[in-house]
Amino acid sequence: MESLIGLVNRIQRACTVLGDYGGGTGDNAFNSLWEALPTVAVVGGQSSGKSSVLESIVGRDFLPRGSGIVTRRPLVLQLHKTEEGTEEYAEFLHLPKKKFIDFALVRQEIQDETDRITGKSKQISPVPIHLSIFSPNVVNLTLIDLPGLTKVAVEGQPESIVEDIESMVRTYVDKPNCIILAISPANQDIATSDAIKLAKEVDPTGERTFGVLTKLDLMDKGTNALEVLEGRSYRLQHPWVGIVNRSQADINKNIDMMLARRKEREYFDTSPDYGHLASKMGSEYLAKLLSKHLESVIRSRIPSILSLINKSIEELERELDRMGRPVAVDAGAQLYTILEMCRAFDKIFKEHLD
Ligand code: GDP
Ligand code: NA
Ligand code: MG
Repeated sequence: MESLIGLVNRIQRACTVLGDYGGGTGDNAFNSLWEALPTVAVVGGQSSGKSSVLESIVGRDFLPRGSGIVTRRPLVLQLHKTEEGTEEYAEFLHLPKKKFIDFALVRQEIQDETDRITGKSKQISPVPIHLSIFSPNVVNLTLIDLPGLTKVAVEGQPESIVEDIESMVRTYVDKPNCIILAISPANQDIATSDAIKLAKEVDPTGERTFGVLTKLDLMDKGTNALEVLEGRSYRLQHPWVGIVNRSQADINKNIDMMLARRKEREYFDTSPDYGHLASKMGSEYLAKLLSKHLESVIRSRIPSILSLINKSIEELERELDRMGRPVAVDAGAQLYTILEMCRAFDKIFKEHLD
């Protein structure tokens, strides 16, 4: 049976394409459905390690990087676990049927597609880029990479950029169905973390926030992050996860992601400070934890998702009646396709309920 997360992935893509099928008011069953689907949003200050965490979770090197605001549009990253031994590839929603085998080209395409909407300026845009990665080395998971929170505009950027980024991030984390992956670097005081500041505001009980502490290897000698990792500095309902990503020097030396994962594992296994937490640390553990959590959240929402799917079906049928059946081309044919898809989702979800 298709995984629940995979299924929700497909609905999310359909909603994106068809969110404004009914004349563009945006106020239709598909948008309500999109709102109801759980997502994981990656939130943190600039250079906190967001992109590095995403790449570690995927086990591939594919995100644009550099200083300043690199992520200028939301990136909806859908990971699909495939069978052992199958070839890894990526696909963009805006380039259907084009398979990317070379992940350097994925990075280039994210950059180009960002520029296509924002121009070469340092502007940001809320229009998401959708990327799917198919690989035996991933867990089923959907993550949204967002521009990093920042405190000051740099040269060439409008003054409003600081607030614009924050309000874009808020449109995601405000949603009660959004799981917040809050990234903070260990070499800065947690009290100053942009991610925790925002998470605290929108999720005061900490039930939908996962705290991630990066750069453990960069802490001053003789200090450690146990206060944070053991939940004494800032308490969340879920345990904190510590991470050691590749350093800039590792990246410059082209240390590959699989080697980086192994080095991270070794770091925790041999650490005098974190040895007792080793099995609950690292990017691989984080990926599994998130996948499991997302799956259980989706499972608990199946009844409400089903009812929204059925609303969508009714709305589509009304729309098709209004157009007069049979409709052969364009919009009509597209609506038919979605209608079929909704019916298929309805069926598979019901199977998952049994
Ligand atoms: P983003 O701006 O939040 O996406 O941050 P990046 O993932 O691009 O990371 C910013 C810089 O910090 C890069 O040079 C990374 O190599 C470095 N970095 C991120 N995480 C770690 C870590 O855990 N340890 C070390 N040593 N460097 C890290
Ligand atoms: Na960056
Ligand atoms: Mg980044």
